[in-house]
Parts: sequence; structure tokens; C-alpha cells
Amino acid sequence: MANDNKLQNIIAHCKEYGFVFQSSEIYDGLSAVYDYGQLGAELKRNIRDYWWKSMTQMHDNIVGIDAAIFMHPTVWKASGHVDNFSDPMIDNKDSQKRYRVDHLIEAFAEKLDKEAGDALLQQMDQLLAANDFAGLKQLIETNKISCGISGTCNWTDVRQFNLMFSTEIGSVADEANVIYLRPETAQGIFVNFLNVQKSGRMKIPFGIAQTGKAFRNEIVARGFIFRMREFEQMEMQFFIKPGTQKEWYDYWKETRMKWHLSLGIAADKYRFHDHVKLAHYADAACDIEYDFPMGFKEVEGVHSRTDFDLKQHQQYSGKKLTYFDTDINQHYVPYVIETSIGLDRAVMMVLSEAFEEEDLSTEEKKDSRSVLRFPPMLAPIKLAVLPLTKKDGLPEIAKDLIASCKPYFKCFYEEKDTIGKRYRRMDAIGTPFCITIDHQTKDDNTVTIRYRDTMTQERIPLDSVRALVMDKIKMF
Ligand code: GAP
Repeated sequence: MANDNKLQNIIAHCKEYGFVFQSSEIYDGLSAVYDYGQLGAELKRNIRDYWWKSMTQMHDNIVGIDAAIFMHPTVWKASGHVDNFSDPMIDNKDSQKRYRVDHLIEAFAEKLDKEAGDALLQQMDQLLAANDFAGLKQLIETNKISCGISGTCNWTDVRQFNLMFSTEIGSVADEANVIYLRPETAQGIFVNFLNVQKSGRMKIPFGIAQTGKAFRNEIVARGFIFRMREFEQMEMQFFIKPGTQKEWYDYWKETRMKWHLSLGIAADKYRFHDHVKLAHYADAACDIEYDFPMGFKEVEGVHSRTDFDLKQHQQYSGKKLTYFDTDINQHYVPYVIETSIGLDRAVMMVLSEAFEEEDLSTEEKKDSRSVLRFPPMLAPIKLAVLPLTKKDGLPEIAKDLIASCKPYFKCFYEEKDTIGKRYRRMDAIGTPFCITIDHQTKDDNTVTIRYRDTMTQERIPLDSVRALVMDKIKMF
């Protein structure tokens, strides 16, 4: 319950301070579609930049691309998405509400004690792995799992629904013109494998990274920006020699977990979840789960995708997608390890981790503050510069400081309200450093720096501010 409240408080906070808004809100919103506001867009961009640089700048053998959202329709036939990208669903006949079977059972399992819940999930995993839809329906009925709206157990059979959105390209709406909005960014990498390998003279092992929008017609969309119909992925395909996939799978599991820990998030907030039911392309797969306000949930997947995708594209396109390995004088279709993290989920993770309603009450007075303890490198605004008064030349000094800092990082100027109120507003949007310009500044060129997390203050030289902030926000 407390965590339910935390999620609701985060949602309200995001709206109040301009991080995330419901899409088309003035028209009552569009379900599971969200817009990022002025601070959310900065936060999201900082997380994307950190991922991008971790991949393409910190690895000599990974390059980044930016493929189009629209792709030739045969791509999705070859990848298996037309035939296999579907989830088992069940409808409640009384409420007409449709559920993803695994979500329905998982939500029920969470309410049981740990042993019973784990046993139920194990049964579900086995039935999913065997595509045993009748067995899944029976499991729901035997456990008397009811619909949250009607409260009844009056269920249809379990059926598969494809999650891809389609539209038409060109002016004539016939079947030949149907194209899909990509449900993952990965295929844009696979179809460009040879272009990048040849033009970049890449040697295996090497990776191709990209970030971009993906679209899925999620039936059960919930959990704020956790599950959306339009979202952004940050994916990297690592091309390797066949037979080395186990070693590289382990390498990328570890490397990606280190990235998560580098966000300053404690190790016990993460866990790996190994897949029992593997996707049609994988020979091993796991999720990195984070302890969101609604419990441990997937934030990233690491998948050993074999040579499935390249071989499929080779077959459907009729073009050879092999690599000549000069070390062994052999042509082969590379194997692939994929890391795939949802950017919106990463935003939600960073927000969940950072958000705190801190009780600052003393015996004399009740007090509290809302604070977003972002790692400084991810904070939307790095530095606030606050003149103590609107006169006596203090605003001019503040504006000069901003002018010298803003080419390097995002700054914010504010002269309204008391300093205390201004500090609290900066806490609420996660600004790690506030500088106050006061009359002493005019005498000795020093300023007060106030740290968001500890709320401590100290006097430092005005001309040391830029270097101090730059040191604290550096990514590597
Ligand atoms: N290319 C592999 C792939 O797409 P996935 O596990 O389906 O694998 C990868 O998705 C990541 O994309 C997930 O770990 C999650 O973070 C994010 N993601 C997937 N569906 C999403 C949705 N509907 N809303 C937000 N993020 C989503």
C-alpha cells in the first residue's frame, strides 16, 4: 500500500513539476501514451546520452546508427514478428476486459504467500513454455483468479493477439501497402549489419547500437511509463563468432549490471530473472529487474539471439549476410548477443530511486521537503544561480556566472521568493547545486554553494563554481 502511494506520488510530482504528462490530456488523455515535459525531456536525454556514450564512446568496437522507424514489411515476416509477436490473452465475459494471461496470474501470485506464489508462477512458466493454452485457462480457473472489474471467473479461452501496429504507405490503401510501426529497434540493426561492417571495416566481435521509438499495441498497459504503446528503446547487437555466445552472454550480463550500478543504485535493488520460456530467436535470455514501487520488474533484457535474425534476413532477402573471418579463413553468419533497455523504464527507475519525501521536522516545528536525488550527471538542471536580492548589482553577477557556465551544462536563474523557498523548488526538480550571490560576493568574490542531498552550505570562490560542477557531473 505504501508503495502504491509512492507510485501515485511520483506520478503527481512528475505532472506538477513538468516531467511527464498524459498524452492529449485536454482530450482526457490517450491510454498508455505519455509526453515528456520540459524537465522530463532533459532527464530522458541525459539517460539516453549516458547509455549512448557508455556503448559507443567507451567501447572501441561498438558504433551507433539511427535507422528509420518504417521498414520493408518483409523485415517483420523474416524476423518472426508477423507470426509470433503475440501474447496469450484472456477476456472476462462479464466485464469484456482483456488481460495478458501472464500478467493476470502474476498479479494474483503477488497476493499469495511466497511459497504458494512461486509454485503458481512455476506452473505458469511451464505451461507458457509448452504453449499449453487450455492448461493456462485451467490454471486460472482452478485458482479462482477473478477479473478486477466484474469480480467473476467467467473467462473466454486463451487466444493469441499480435502486438504490432500497422498503417499504409503511399496513397492507395490496399494490402500490398501495409507497413508496420517497428515493435523493436533491433531489426534496423540487423538489416544494416553488412552496411556497417563493410563501411566501418569492423572486425568481429563488434557491436551496433541505436536508440529510438518502438510501438506495441499493449493490451494491458499500466504502471505509468512502465508499459506504454509508444516508447523508446536503447538496443545494442553484439556480433560474435558462433560457439562463443555463452562467454559473451555472461560478459554482457555483467557489463550491463555494472552500468546499472554506476547510476548509484544499490545492488539489492536489482536482480536477474532467467527466462524459462525463450523467445523464438533466443538460446538464452534474462531480464535485469529493478525494484520499482510496484515490485521487481524488468527494466532490461540480455538475449543470446543466435544467428536467427541474420539467417532469416538472408533467406527472405536473398542477400548473403556472412562475415569473412580472416583469423580462421572462414565465412560464417555471426551469432548475436543483444542488450535491450527501455528508455522510459530507465527514466521511471531513476525517478523511483531519486524521489523522496523527507521529514525534516524538529521538536520546534514540523517540516518536510520533496526531493529528487538524481545522480548529478543525470539531473535536468545542474546549477541554479540565485541572487539574494533583485538589486545592488547581485542579479548582474548571477547572470555573468550563468553566461560562463551555460555552454557547458544546463543552468537556471531565479530571483523570486525567499532563498529557502527557492532551494526547496530546486530540491523538488533534482538540481544538485545552488549558488547564492549575496552582498559579500561583491566584496570578496565568494558565493554560497548549497548541496541538494545534505542541504549543507559552504563558501567558495565564485571563479571555482564552473570547474566544481563540471567535476561532479562528468560521466566517466
Ligand atoms: N529487441 C528485444 C526486445 O525488444 P523486449 O524484452 O521485448 O526485447 C526490451 O523489450 C525492453 O524494452 C524491455 O526490457 C523494456 O525495458 C522495454 N519495453 C518493452 N515493451 C515496453 C513497453 N510497452 N513500454 C515501455 N517499455 C517497454
